[in-house]
Amino acid sequence: MEITMRPIGFVRSPYRTTSQVPKGLGAKHDAEGVLEILEEFEIGLTDIEGFSHLIVVWAFDRSEGFELLGTPPSDNRPHGVFATRSPRRPNPIGLTTVELARRDGRMLHVRGIDMLEGTPILDIKPYLSSIPAETLKRGWLAEAAARQK
Ligand SMILES: C[S@@+](CC[C@H](N)C(=O)[O-])C[C@H]1O[C@@H](n2cnc3c(N)ncnc32)[C@H](O)[C@@H]1O
Repeated sequence: MEITMRPIGFVRSPYRTTSQVPKGLGAKHDAEGVLEILEEFEIGLTDIEGFSHLIVVWAFDRSEGFELLGTPPSDNRPHGVFATRSPRRPNPIGLTTVELARRDGRMLHVRGIDMLEGTPILDIKPYLSSIPAETLKRGWLAEAAARQK
């Protein structure tokens, strides 16, 4: 089975190469950018202004192949791809939560992007987390952070 998707828009980002995107434990993602939505989908943005944060689903269009076990920049130990946010995954789908600063027609000005310039956007959804911080477990990331202290 194959699933075909088409972009609803493209990311306008200050990052041109992967090396420019902050990486590793404690990396801060406060870069500003624009989610430029295609005209044919603009009506789908109706009422989005009321949400402070959005989940952006996008395609790693510049990563090749996948690795089921890999060592991420935030650790020196290997982890399964589904326990990481690696760009090299069987279905190269990225997920980023951004803060919506303002909407200007079909342009969403956002903060917190980690995507490269021109990244295809597959979907946008409002961020609605109902999981209390104290019940969230951070798995190997918490262990890697503790080892670095
Ligand atoms: C670790 S991934 C996490 C992405 C997203 N926040 C997620 O969790 O799915 C972020 C990295 O993906 C890479 N990246 C960003 N945009 C990309 C693109 N369009 N194609 C391939 N790699 C990309 C950059 O190197 C960036 O540091």
